Amino acid sequence: MDNSLDISARVDRYRRVFGQASPDLLARAPGRINLIGEHTDYHDGLVLPIAMSSSLYVLAGGRGQNDLTVHSTAIGETVDFSAQDPGGPDDYTDLPDWSRYVRGVAALLRHNGIALRGGWLLIDSDIPVGGGVSSSAALEIGSALALLALSVASMDPVTLALLARQAEHEYAGSPCGIMDQFICLLGKADHALLLDCRSQAFRHVPLPHEQVELIVMDTGVRHAIGGGEYALRQQQGLDGLTILQASDPGIGALRDVSLERLFAHQQRMDAVIFRRCRHVISEIQRTDEAATALKAGDWAAFGRLMNASHASLRDDYEVSCAELDELVELAVQTPGVYGARMTGGGFGGCAIAMARKNTLPALRQTVTEKYDKRYANTAAVYTTQADFGANVYPLRKVQ
Ligand code: GLA
Repeated sequence: MDNSLDISARVDRYRRVFGQASPDLLARAPGRINLIGEHTDYHDGLVLPIAMSSSLYVLAGGRGQNDLTVHSTAIGETVDFSAQDPGGPDDYTDLPDWSRYVRGVAALLRHNGIALRGGWLLIDSDIPVGGGVSSSAALEIGSALALLALSVASMDPVTLALLARQAEHEYAGSPCGIMDQFICLLGKADHALLLDCRSQAFRHVPLPHEQVELIVMDTGVRHAIGGGEYALRQQQGLDGLTILQASDPGIGALRDVSLERLFAHQQRMDAVIFRRCRHVISEIQRTDEAATALKAGDWAAFGRLMNASHASLRDDYEVSCAELDELVELAVQTPGVYGARMTGGGFGGCAIAMARKNTLPALRQTVTEKYDKRYANTAAVYTTQADFGANVYPLRKVQ
């Protein structure tokens, strides 16, 4: 088994927290980095994420009864609820917010006919919360896979991704798209996932780590997508869509609109709504072009598209922040960097740079000299590569 899983330390933690013998299984659910295609998933667009090595782990042990006991090592809290009736979004109001993701997937699994068994779940994560690399989807998917395995049940990845997204909508109140749950389950080592968020068709595109360096720059600024700005952006896009549909009812989503058509309707739109739509429409086009560039190994073209994506998110969509802009700026000035952009929902979290091999030391030094002196948070700068999606390791046979 993979040493990076750090199994024995995690099993020790499980034993200490629950006072129980070893767990039956370990579920691993990775964080994600979106290479390009930001804020397009909820408009039926295209996205191009990878699964990261940084992951969330759920160690699970079964017990005959109905009770589920869940402990988060990051927060140091334990919650209990019933496996037979995990409750609706408005139940168990005394439990902390993080447990809503676990309770949400448990409730929806039950709802989908899975006879959940009771047990202990220990959640241990290497993914920074609020870091823009989707710790929440990893929590949903890791918990769901652990609960399914404990209950000796399974579900196909697409159904499970949609179920986890529904849990996030209904139990956590975050109106997210489908990107994070899909990549968490469908990631492939050394490949990005080109996902069509309308048809849910997907294809893995090679991203060989021998050829290129993917550098993550974490601003240290934390955000929550439950915050109103994400929902506001979504609504602004829908407002633009309504205006466009008035002259062409055949338009189902911003995915169906060309830039030419948008410009033709510019006068009928508020300037902010116009810019929000311009971001979504141009970003879907960039993602399509980026997938072609990636397939051809054309890193210069890929980098240019990343730079354009960042400018659009900063100026048209207005979801960047000074820290992200600074890191992107420092990256594009560093020799060897093909392109850089913010990744994820925005308002903090991480920026990424695609670079020639061995660019990390120079970029890290620039960030230390310029960014760390200027901002309250120090930026973590590290390389990552496309890793495989979520999976379950049996540690003992589940009875
Ligand atoms: C968050 C959401 C995703 C997606 C991104 C922005 O991560 O969970 O569905 O909308 O923001 O691309």
